[in-house]
Amino acid sequence: MTAKDLAEGKSEEEWSIDTDERERIELELLMEGVHRLYGYDFRNYALPSLRRRVHHSAQSENVKSISGLQEKVLHDRACFDRLVQSLSIPVTEMFRDPLLFRTFREEIIPVLRTYPYIRIWHAGCSTGEEVYSMAIMLHEEGLYDKARIYATDMNAKSLQQAKEGVYGIDKMKLYTKNYLDSGGTQSFSEYYTARYNSVMFQPFLRKNIIFAEHNLATDRSFNEFNVIFCRNVMIYFNDELRNQVHGLFHESLSRFGVLVLGAKESIQFTDYSGFYEPLGRGEKIYRKIK
Ligand SMILES: C[S@@+](CC[C@H](N)C(=O)[O-])C[C@H]1O[C@@H](n2cnc3c(N)ncnc32)[C@H](O)[C@@H]1O
Repeated sequence: MTAKDLAEGKSEEEWSIDTDERERIELELLMEGVHRLYGYDFRNYALPSLRRRVHHSAQSENVKSISGLQEKVLHDRACFDRLVQSLSIPVTEMFRDPLLFRTFREEIIPVLRTYPYIRIWHAGCSTGEEVYSMAIMLHEEGLYDKARIYATDMNAKSLQQAKEGVYGIDKMKLYTKNYLDSGGTQSFSEYYTARYNSVMFQPFLRKNIIFAEHNLATDRSFNEFNVIFCRNVMIYFNDELRNQVHGLFHESLSRFGVLVLGAKESIQFTDYSGFYEPLGRGEKIYRKIK
């Protein structure tokens, strides 16, 4: 609180409202600048997590305020790249939420089996673990050869790792457990070769995967899909952007196409809730009906 505020008789509460408002303005200006200069649109990301990530970036860039971060981001491409990494939150794992994969295997795979070819889009695939999980499942079900998997993310660095398919060996214990819990039928270690502290997934799993940069906030639909996975991505968006992206998915899904969301996400309370019916037992799997 400043001497002027004291002189004007402002209470602590009034001061903190001013602070919140100032911070909101700074955040909006930063996102506006980022959008105009670099074309990345974070303007409709949910405020609480955006604020947290931006504060974290300001701290690690050694600047005192969001305005200070803005100046650095607008003048230094490397600083902007670091901000994108921080806002991207590339947390993922193989067969994440194993029951979801089990339900997909038991309920959706039999339907996909009846199709002449299968197109699957993993939107916001991060470093690719979810995509390799899908490739393994399709391989075991004898469907991989007639499938094309489109793996997209806005984060080029994550996509590069996804293409390489190299992960830390320390994660294999959890991934093996997830794989078995998801209904995996083979020895999981057959899908990778270990080298020092990392493992590389078998190249045959990559054969039908197309990796590409795609930003859900700014890019358009690029194909028609039987299945779209978009898990733990829209949780970071506000209602407006979430509705916009659901519009994109609805447009991109074929008739009776399947949409898979993250455990904490739902089609309910979006403009598109009436266009889908839930499938599975509480898992976030929906079939397009309109
Ligand atoms: C928490 S990870 C989820 C990864 C994976 N789908 C999963 O559930 O394990 C979120 C991913 O969404 C991506 N993402 C965030 N905003 C995006 C956007 N506008 N367009 C495309 N990808 C985005 C991030 O880069 C990040 O890799």
